[in-house]
Amino acid sequence: MPIVIDHINAAAMSGSHGTPYGTVTDAAIVIDDEHIAWLGPRAELPSSYQNIAPVDGQGAWALPGLIDCHTHIVYGGMRAGEFEQRLQGVSYEEIARRGGGIRSTVAMTRAASLEELVDSATARLVELRREGVTLVEIKSGYGLNLETERKQLIAAGQAAERAGVDVRRSFLGAHTIPPEYDGNADDYIDLVCDGMLPALAREGLIDAVDAFCETIGFTPAQTRRVFETARAHDLPVKLHADQLTNGGGAALAAEFDALSADHVEFCDEAGARAMAAHGTAAVLLPGAYYFLGETQKPPIDLFRRHKVSMAVSTDSNPGSSPTTSLLLMLSMACTFFRLTPEEALTGITAAAQALGATPDHGTLTPGALANIAFFNITQPAELAYHIGHNPCVGRCYRGRLSLDGWPS
Ligand code: NIG
Ligand code: FE
Repeated sequence: MPIVIDHINAAAMSGSHGTPYGTVTDAAIVIDDEHIAWLGPRAELPSSYQNIAPVDGQGAWALPGLIDCHTHIVYGGMRAGEFEQRLQGVSYEEIARRGGGIRSTVAMTRAASLEELVDSATARLVELRREGVTLVEIKSGYGLNLETERKQLIAAGQAAERAGVDVRRSFLGAHTIPPEYDGNADDYIDLVCDGMLPALAREGLIDAVDAFCETIGFTPAQTRRVFETARAHDLPVKLHADQLTNGGGAALAAEFDALSADHVEFCDEAGARAMAAHGTAAVLLPGAYYFLGETQKPPIDLFRRHKVSMAVSTDSNPGSSPTTSLLLMLSMACTFFRLTPEEALTGITAAAQALGATPDHGTLTPGALANIAFFNITQPAELAYHIGHNPCVGRCYRGRLSLDGWPS
């Protein structure tokens, strides 16, 4: 029997209603099994649903379940000590060069058991879920050997299942050079391309392939090899690009029809143009910008001018963005990067193309998965307006309603 929820306002985040945010006021929504069957003004509810006793939405706003399209949420330990060092004047790059940074998390992730990784990642995912998140991308990249990359990807799947969120897994073997390959980056890339990627793809653990193209990461030539291998395995790519320097990463990603180029603070016009031409989304990560005290902002006007789709994400990770609040990122995307609230909200919903996840996710559209977040707000912009406040009062995940915060 379908579920009807009425007395809601909806921000469908799709163009089909011809209103900002795809707003439908005094709306009703019908959920049939795992999918949305109908959404529209309450007065227009089709007669076939009128004999179903509705759930009273009490004026809540319904949005598509939020999407966090860039996280490194599975890891061992944390790095508060490095945070202290940075505040004493040591830079993020310098810590990495001294063997800390990503490598310290690699050591702690290698040492952690699968259960420990699943437990800690589940706890973080539950924090995202409480804000209405229903789809999360999770990267590997803290293992840097086959065994630990596999452990991370398996943990990602198990944690998502436990937390009740959908997941897309990205293989980030080319995150940094592990200590045992010091000075032999090309040999490590051989291992990524000839060993790890094919094995993990065969095991069905990878939805996409990512890399860190940066002065403290991998060169464009090494990144290209990883992307060519991904292509040979029919896997889409994405890239940590132009975060600390302009290395032409965005254009390289676009050349491989990447789903997204992420960070992109130093992306230039050629990069933005290439991204637009290849449908590569820009993933903005204001948490890393904030936490690393960066000053270079992503070129939002270029992205607007060239019509590059912009997504917003937590980049949840222990080194550059230890956050589990996507709503805080929404606020930061507006205050730091000057996105409009509608652009920022699109960035955590309809911009699901950054995961290759549309049309199932990201809009309240008949036929899409019934992944819905309900908020006690008076207008959608309120979600970006509050700082550190969570107005999520309920969630529908694959057709299953949980209205924890619903006023009774
Ligand atoms: O997205 N840039 C590389 N990767 C992460 C940081 C990882 C870390 O410091 O542990 C990022 O910012
Ligand atoms: Fe990242």
